[in-house]
Amino acid sequence: MKPYIFITRKLPDEVVEGLQDSYEVSMWDKEEMPVPRERLLEEAGKADALLTMLSDRIDEEVLEAGRNLKVVANLAVGYDNIDVPAATQRGIAVCNTPDVLTDTTADLTFALLMAAARRIVEAADYIKGDKWKSWSPLLLAGLDIHHKKIGIVGMGKIGAAVAKRATGFEMDILYHNRSRNMEMEEAVGAQYVSFDELITESDFIVCMTPLTEQTRGMFTRDVFRKMKKTAIFVNAARGPVVDEGALYDALVEGDIAGAGLDVFEKEPISASHPLLKLNNVTAIPHIGSSSIETRMTMMNLCAYNISLVLSEKEPKSLVNKDWKNS
Ligand code: GLV
Ligand code: GLV
Repeated sequence: MKPYIFITRKLPDEVVEGLQDSYEVSMWDKEEMPVPRERLLEEAGKADALLTMLSDRIDEEVLEAGRNLKVVANLAVGYDNIDVPAATQRGIAVCNTPDVLTDTTADLTFALLMAAARRIVEAADYIKGDKWKSWSPLLLAGLDIHHKKIGIVGMGKIGAAVAKRATGFEMDILYHNRSRNMEMEEAVGAQYVSFDELITESDFIVCMTPLTEQTRGMFTRDVFRKMKKTAIFVNAARGPVVDEGALYDALVEGDIAGAGLDVFEKEPISASHPLLKLNNVTAIPHIGSSSIETRMTMMNLCAYNISLVLSEKEPKSLVNKDWKNS
């Protein structure tokens, strides 16, 4: 019997076809809706491999159901949706998609920063809404980007790629991270500072940190209060790193000037979400790595990782290096 792979969302045929010679493959076939929990648990019980989305909660219950499960390949660089220690305990490999999405996600992050600063979305809505009656000196005037100070929280590969883009705008670059990144400091002239210094000094505060127990809720009302009143906060990492109620209050009460948000505490959000009522919020639906080229590459990397694990080879991008030792 061929090993069985379950894919939790509809993927293009060309990704699946490559797997079908060697494996039995099935997938949840609705593009717009995540796989229901019941079905996920049922499939986990049969599968040798799961190809999962960041919107699937792969917790102990799913992993425990996966009696034959050898690998979970997540279509994302982040893996906070997966209980990694529980997978390791059961000898299940967890794979993600680092590197291949770095530049694409940095492009989007910078676009979001620029859109928030120069009010691009608001301006596009303005003209489509037939409001443009005359040119005027301060019509939709935004904030400059060039020569300003950008503070990057979380200087991993994507943070470094954002910093590189900032050099093109001749920005001063501050960063805060668990550890210093000397190579990157030299390459882009970034300066390591404390979190407190970063939030008080920066014109743009860009959050690129993964969601962990240490980073959950780190952007509190107090943090927003310490920022410049002209600051713009950009989050292209994970929603729960921010206390969303605190961000809302900060935006309404003028602690900061605006926000560019690609991620939210509980996704998806609906049009009635309080943050979407604010003119100084530029919001997009978690599309950081979403270029056609990069999403195809990510899907193929997930498929490749699965085939490597199922043929007892080392996967290309492994989260839990100790999965075999347990
Ligand atoms: C997207 O958010 C990812 O983690 O790849
Ligand atoms: C703007 O279009 C200008 O000419 O200043």
